[in-house]
Amino acid sequence: MSEPAIMSHREIRERIATLPRLDIALKNTPLEEARNLSRALGGPRIFFKRDDLTGVALGGNKLRNLEFRLAHAMKDEPDTVIVGLDLQSNSARQTVGACNKLGLKTILVLEGRKPNNVQGNLLVDYLLGAEVHFAADPREQRAMLDGLAEEVRSKGGRPHILNDNPMFDVASAVAYLEVTLEVLEQLAARDLAPDYFYMSSSGKGSAGIMLAQKLIGGFAMHAVCATAEFDLPSRTARIANETIAALGLDIAVTEDEVINTEDFVGKGYGIPSEAGDEAVKLVARTEGIILDPIYTGKAAAGMIAHIREGRFSQDDVLVFVHTGGTPAIFTWNELWL
Ligand SMILES: Cc1ncc(COP(=O)(O)O)c(C=O)c1O
Repeated sequence: MSEPAIMSHREIRERIATLPRLDIALKNTPLEEARNLSRALGGPRIFFKRDDLTGVALGGNKLRNLEFRLAHAMKDEPDTVIVGLDLQSNSARQTVGACNKLGLKTILVLEGRKPNNVQGNLLVDYLLGAEVHFAADPREQRAMLDGLAEEVRSKGGRPHILNDNPMFDVASAVAYLEVTLEVLEQLAARDLAPDYFYMSSSGKGSAGIMLAQKLIGGFAMHAVCATAEFDLPSRTARIANETIAALGLDIAVTEDEVINTEDFVGKGYGIPSEAGDEAVKLVARTEGIILDPIYTGKAAAGMIAHIREGRFSQDDVLVFVHTGGTPAIFTWNELWL
């Protein structure tokens, strides 16, 4: 038996409502049962939370957190948002889309070199009209962020460097605390409750689902990371505890409670893996749902490996949070031919 819930959904929503917020993403995204995938794996019930369908600029998980990040930024009435991210960042694409909706100019400083064949997220960044700069490494990227902000200021503009936004991490955790409420309510409408959540996360979104786990109980959060560059238990616990403080909650998350595996990263961040590519194909060919080889495919590979290991019973209910990232399939076109 799980512990009784500490807070009701209404009380949690009231706490979230104390934070400044804009309306950017399509929320209450569908929860879709993947019956063919379950059958193919001889496994538990699997539901996909379709957060790839959040609307703006091809959708994804970041639009939800941008509602809080940009609301915070708007206090200073910026006219330009400057952000430093990776070359093929989903976050960059969604940030430009969200800023377009708000009438803000976006300057991207992406780590990497401009490829000869511009594809995937980078192509969409250009289509959305972002001003795109490239930095060789994080040091140069930081210097360019500051330099570009100064340049905007010198021309009378009002820049906001999104990387310095205090809501940067907390916004994602709050967003996925709310997503968990959506999922619980969508399952309850079918007389079901979740046993396990799976999600690609480097500790921001998964921290939010962990908070829901603590506040409501009854399920476990399994995050699968796309990078090995973080100390995930401490990062996730830190973000969860910062979020607890931002929401004025009376709980704590410790490192030893965090389940976030690096086992499916493969050769490294941004490099497709055999297990991830197999998962992308399996989900596409059983359900018509498109994952990506960098984040969601690797997370699905983790879930599928655990199912194949026999960790779950037929009646268990698994929720896979589809965090988007689909434009990456076009940068890796040779994998699908
Ligand atoms: C498709 C996708 N999934 C998952 C993540 C990880 O999200 P977070 O670490 O915010 O939970 C990202 C961003 O880094 C992403 O682009």
